[in-house]
Order: sequence, then structure tokens, then C-alpha cells
Amino acid sequence: MGQPGQVAVSQPWKYARYWLLVIGLLCFSTLSTPRLGFVRSLTSSPESEFPDLPQHCAAIPPIPASALEARRNTLAKRLHDLGAAAYIAEPSSSAAYYFNVSEEHWHLSERPLLFIVTPSVSDATGDITANVSILTPKFEAARAKLLPLSPSAYIQWAEEDDPFAVLSAALGLPTNATAYVDANARLFVADGLQRALPHARIRTPPPQIVEIRERKTDEEIAILACANEATLLAIRATHKRMRIGMRESEARDLVARALAAVGLQRAGCLTLFGENAALPHGSGTDRALHKEDFALFDCTGQLHGYWSDVTRTLALPASRIPDAHLAIWHHVHAAQALARAAIAPGALTSHPDTAARAHLAQAGYAQYFTHRLGHGIGLNVHESPYLRGVPETQATPILPGHTFSDEPGVYIERKVGVRLEDCVVVQHGAAHATFLTAGVGGAARSPWEP
Ligand SMILES: *[C@@H]1O[C@H](CO)[C@@H](O)[C@H](O)[C@H]1NC(C)=O
Ligand SMILES: *[C@@H]1O[C@H](CO)[C@@H](O)[C@H](O)[C@H]1NC(C)=O
Ligand SMILES: *[C@@H]1O[C@H](CO)[C@@H](O)[C@H](O)[C@H]1NC(C)=O
Repeated sequence: MGQPGQVAVSQPWKYARYWLLVIGLLCFSTLSTPRLGFVRSLTSSPESEFPDLPQHCAAIPPIPASALEARRNTLAKRLHDLGAAAYIAEPSSSAAYYFNVSEEHWHLSERPLLFIVTPSVSDATGDITANVSILTPKFEAARAKLLPLSPSAYIQWAEEDDPFAVLSAALGLPTNATAYVDANARLFVADGLQRALPHARIRTPPPQIVEIRERKTDEEIAILACANEATLLAIRATHKRMRIGMRESEARDLVARALAAVGLQRAGCLTLFGENAALPHGSGTDRALHKEDFALFDCTGQLHGYWSDVTRTLALPASRIPDAHLAIWHHVHAAQALARAAIAPGALTSHPDTAARAHLAQAGYAQYFTHRLGHGIGLNVHESPYLRGVPETQATPILPGHTFSDEPGVYIERKVGVRLEDCVVVQHGAAHATFLTAGVGGAARSPWEP
């Protein structure tokens, strides 16, 4: 489920006061941002603490430059087909997808730095390729030139200029052009372009363009699978080291060290014991683990920019879980399996949600499964498409290359919370989705075998 905060993790101990502020803000912010990176233990190295947890993904390569170029050319072809003049993005996960530049490489400020793709048609062959330009503040042009891409033009705007007027003039956009502004861009970007070109159609990208990033290639799937496997291995290594009486914060620090040992970046977990897990994004208390409690871990981490998202609700050998709570665990487990079987190419995105919900309703827990079944996952933890019970007219078809979380849950306030989450991929030619954690055994088998 998790959605980490976008927190820089360099030298966290130097900024403890700000971290506390950030943690406080995140705890009280929206349901979609309950996460943060965690301070690594300064006393012992993760590698020595987890000898059973080697770097899991060392052999998985990052996305090569040729794939980034292919993405941009696909984008250019779709723009051409749609009769659109340009695609425009700020540093963001979308810019990371097409240009390998995210907000980590270029922090957003009030001065726009924009990436622009226009379709360029070869006179000789008719081939359509991406023409990339960067709009940069003039005094920052030297820094923009250090970004890891070679555009055909750096369009520079001086402090006294209207950056959007400079951009539309440099691109030679017709006054009635259609231009797509990435949905992650801030409103003033779209608004500024619209003011510079009052007769243009400035829009967020249509499904034909959003789909490019939604459908993963084999190399992206290999990265996502390894990140999710590593996350599950870290949860299992943590499970072995837990004891009755430990606090949520101790378990959270332990699992953060395990995630670092296994080789994931910007990793962290929501760690909730007993009735605290009935609040899907946490309670903010630091409860001790009792024999009657489940412990819920909802963990994310990054590999080559791609996220994992795995949740386990587990028990220790010494736990004495009430039968009613064990029954809930097994119903959630069954719902997760039914949902996976319903994540099939051609099925609507609403169907898996309905399948999981029907099972939990039959077991009497309809009102306790309070959130959607899942979300797309990739360069964002939460990204489109989403698996939720919308009317069929609003649902979209599930397609090969889609990756989703499959995470049913039952939350009975002040009593118990159970969520089980593995991400899945819809492979070409497969009848239904497979777990991205399959390489290390896939879904949990019982609360004692996560
Ligand atoms: C993308 O950027 C990362 C650094 O953020 C770098 O390690 C990687 O080599 C870059 N990839 C390409 C294809 O340029
Ligand atoms: C690429 O775009 C720039 C504007 O940024 C333009 O000057 C140049 O002619 C374009 N090149 C091609 C091949 O379309
Ligand atoms: C934009 O205007 C030109 C003439 O100025 C016209 O040829 C073209 O069809 C128009 N395009 C759209 C999308 O309306």
C-alpha cells in the first residue's frame, strides 16, 4: 500500500530536528503519504547484522540508454498520430521515465526547467523520432547541460522573460497547437503555456500516451521482480529476529536495516502491532508486541528507481493469536489469491477488486475492507492504472505488461487489522497474473510462514 514521502536520505542524523518535523507532517498528511525513509543504524553495519541476507539484486542491470531513447521515440510517434505538437514535463517520475531525470536530480523551484519532446519526421524515410529540448533558466544553463541527456536545443529564458512565451516561440508552435503537459507538472506550467498560446489546446496526456509508461518491458519487470523479492526476504529476515515485547519502533528500525542490507534504496516500512494495524496507514503510537497480536509490515524500497511494495501480517512462534483473528488472516489470504486469478489480460480493472470483495463479503467482512484492491507500481509506488470497484464504463482493460499491487485487507477498529500484499505482473500470453515475489516463494503460507 505504501507511498513513501519524497525525503532525501543523505546524512539524516545531521538533520534530526527536521526529520522529526517531516515525520510529524507525514503522519498527519494524506492517506497517500504515510511513508518515509529511515535512519540507518550507526552502530552496526547491516551486512554483518544479516549474514543470511546477501545483496539480492546485484546482477540486475539498470535501464539502458537505448531503452530510454526507444521510449522517447514511441512517445514521438503517438504525438504524431494524435496530431499533437509537443509533450512537456517537469523533473518528476515521468521525466525519469523518458529522460532519466527526476526531482532528485533537479529540485523543483519557482523557475521552470522543462523537458520537451516534439515529433520529428524524416524527409527521407518518413521515420518519426523524438526531438528533445530543455527549457532552462538562462543563469542555470551550465548546470542544465550537466544533466545526463543530449537535447537538440537548450532554450534559455532570462530572469525578465516570460519562460512560456520564450518556449512557444523557440518551438515555433502554431497558435492552434495541441500540447500535452505531464500530469505531474505543476499548474503554473500548464497555465503559463495556455496564456502564451491562448488558442492552443493545453491538456494532460490522453490514455494512448499514459499507456506507454503503464505497460512495463521485460527489463523493467526484471527490476520490479527483484525489488519485490528483496523486500520480502528482508521482512522474513526481520521476522526471525523479532520477540514478544519489542516495540513498533524497534521492529521498524530492524526491518529498515534489513532492507538496506538486501540492497534497496529509500526503503522503509509501516510497522503496526495489534489493533494499531486496524488503521491502514498507522496510528502514530509505539505499541509493544503482545502474544495475542499480529505484526503488520508494509514495506517499500527502490531498485534502479523502481519501487517494491509488500505487506505481511505475521505471528511469532510464541504468539497466541485468537482464533477469530486467524480466521480473518485466512480469509484475506484467500481473497488475495482470488484477486490474482482475476487479474487477467482483457479483464476490466474493476474485476479483481470485485473478486476479493465478494469473498470477504461472504465471510462477513464487507464493511471492513475499506480501500481499493490495488494500484499500478513502477517509478511511483502508486501509479495508474488502479484496481478499484468503479462502474464498468469507467474501468479499463488489464493489458500485458501491467503491474499491480494485490492487497486486500480487513480492518476492525480497536481490535485487529490484517493486510496481505504482493505485487503482480501480467505477462504476454499468460492466462492470469503472476506474483512479482514468485522467485522467492510468492504469497505468504501462514502467519508463521510469511
Ligand atoms: C540514469 O541515471 C543514473 C543516476 O541517477 C545513472 O546511474 C544511470 O547510468 C543513468 N542511466 C542512463 C541510461 O543514462
Ligand atoms: C528540434 O527542436 C528545435 C527547437 O527546440 C528546433 O530548433 C529544431 O529544428 C528541431 N529539429 C528537428 C530535426 O526537428
Ligand atoms: C491550425 O490552423 C491551421 C491554419 O492556420 C490549419 O491549417 C490547421 O488545420 C489547424 N489545426 C487544427 C488542429 O485546428
